Order: sequence, then structure tokens, then C-alpha cells
Amino acid sequence: MKKLLSVLLSVAVIATLLTGCGGAGGASGAKKVGVSMPTKDLQRWNQDGANMEKELKAAGYEVDLQFANNDVQQQVSQIENMISSGCSVLVIAAIEGSSLGEALDMAKKANIPVIAYDRLIMNSDAVSYYATFDNFKVGVVQGEYVVKSLDLDNAAGPFNIEFTAGDPGDNNAGFFFNGAMSVVQKYIDDGKLNVVSGQKTFEEVATPTWGTDVAQSRAENILSSFYADGTELDVWLCSNDSTALGVTNALAANYTGKYPIITGQDCDIENTKNMIAGKQSMSVFKDTRTLASQVVKMVGQILSNQTVDVNDTTTYDNGVKVVPSFLCEPVFADANNYKQILIDSGYYTEDQLK
Ligand code: BGC
Repeated sequence: MKKLLSVLLSVAVIATLLTGCGGAGGASGAKKVGVSMPTKDLQRWNQDGANMEKELKAAGYEVDLQFANNDVQQQVSQIENMISSGCSVLVIAAIEGSSLGEALDMAKKANIPVIAYDRLIMNSDAVSYYATFDNFKVGVVQGEYVVKSLDLDNAAGPFNIEFTAGDPGDNNAGFFFNGAMSVVQKYIDDGKLNVVSGQKTFEEVATPTWGTDVAQSRAENILSSFYADGTELDVWLCSNDSTALGVTNALAANYTGKYPIITGQDCDIENTKNMIAGKQSMSVFKDTRTLASQVVKMVGQILSNQTVDVNDTTTYDNGVKVVPSFLCEPVFADANNYKQILIDSGYYTEDQLK
């Protein structure tokens, strides 16, 4: 009996693989879209997942939404299940851009188009499109905020700065860091910004897993090694909110000098509260509703054989091909404009930020 079941299951999987993208669908006859998100631990991915699900359902699709607990193997098997259960398109925010090999091979064999969501999928020709925010610009916005806040073009300086970047396994992390450096490097070179720890390459300042705890312990080390003598810190340029939170925690317990400018990204609730309380200076806002709408539009265009909207065909080389991309615009939020950007737009309610 067990054997018969497993034979039947294999036949079903092979049939699904053979029918490929077009014909497969859910029980209701609607086409099914698989949405694979990295983790529920970070607020932004919960929002991305919820927005995608809502918009896809409103557009008439069935949705298989999965979160992979930041576990690459779990993400691979979730994607394989999406393929064998008849998804017509896959939307994937990869935990590690280069580690989805087997699942992507399976998608390719089954002719299932893959949209890389927010993070580029590396070293694979199975990825058809990429939708994200302009990741380099995110860093530029952070760098420009620092230049403006310190009035670097006019002030005498020098000012002390530290950096915290993202996960080396996430292709976005380098774009954020390089974008910020493209703005602040010249002030480091001419001595107006001084990196007291001396740590200024991506490798030195990266945060594996983007973990708040990882960022916090590196910040604690830096503060106790380089700032315990009363040296003042003017800026800590963090690539995103989870790392900014780690730095903020480290400062609270290990630093009593003048409070530095801290940058971030995502406008997570905790960080937005910190902005209001003066503990974080800014956060780059990437409206996940905009990205979800764009991706749902792309799914529709793919499934009806229309030209798919892209606005960048040069930047995102995944090692095998340049992936046609749609880049949404990031903006910055701080204590002065958050009401307009986050509350008036319906992203948060006032109560959520109390
Ligand atoms: C996303 C950021 C996010 C980070 C950590 C990046 O790929 O673009 O918005 O903060 O991952 O999850």
C-alpha cells in the first residue's frame, strides 16, 4: 500500500513537471503562484508576504505562501513542493542568493518562470525577472543623509564614523554598502570622516544573517576597544534596521557620549519608534505595497504572454546572465516626515507607533 502510494505520488509529480507552467493550477481552476519568503523573524518579510498574498488573491490567483525560517534547506524543499503541487509562477526572496540550485533546476525543467523578489538569485539561468527597490540608491540615500546632517561640505570636522553592512550571502548587501560609500568615501579620503576602528571594507563591516545580535556584539567590541576612553562617535552608518537596532542596543549599554547619527532601512515599527524617540536618525522607506503590486503585475504579464515591465536591463548580473529588472524608488523617512510617509499613506496606524 505504502509502495502504491509512493508510486502514485511520483506519477503525480512527474505529471506536474510535464504539464509545466501553463496548464497546472489549483483545485478551483485558478492558476497558483508560489511565494517563498526567507523568514517570519523580520517584520518586513511578513509584510511582503501578506501584501503579495492579498494582491495575488485579489487578482484571481491561488497562493502558496511559505516562510523558510532563514533555513536554506527548508526554503529549497518548500520551493520543490510548490513546483510539485502545480504552481505556475514562483516568486522567491532567497535566503542565500546562490544556494537554491536544485529547486531552480526543477523549476527550469518544468518550465516554471521564476521572479526573484527583492534579492537577486545568483548563478542560475532559471531566474526570469527581478523586482526590487533600487538597492544602490538605498545606500546613496543613507550617505547623503549623513553628508547633509553633518554639513560635511562646510563644517570643519573631522567627524568620527563607523559602518555596519549586511549579510554577505545577500546580493543586496554589497549594493547598499557601495551606494553609501559612493557618497561618503571622498570625505574619508580627505580626512573629514575618520573611521576610528579602521574597519571600512565590506568584509570587515558585514553582518552575517543580518542578525541584530550579530551587529550588536560587533558594535560592543568596537565601542569598548575604541570609544571607552571618551572618544565621541558622530555617525554609525547601518545598512538596515535590524542591524541599526543592534547598534542602538550596544550604544545604550556601552556609550555615554554625544548621541550619533544612525541610519537604517525598512522603517520597521521598532526602529520607527526609535526615530520618534531620537535613538535612530533615519530609515530608508521601501513601501512593500509598491513592490508587491509590481510583482503581481509581472505575474499577470507572464501568464498572459505579454511583455513584462522592466526598467533596468544592465545592472543585475547574477553571474550567468543579466536579469531584466524592475527597480522601485526608495525614499527616506525621519522624525520630521514619518507622519506623512508612514501614517498618512496608511502603512502604519498612529497606534502601532506608540
Ligand atoms: C532587504 C532589506 C532587509 C534585509 C534583511 C535585504 O535583502 O532588501 O530590506 O532589511 O534584506 O532582511
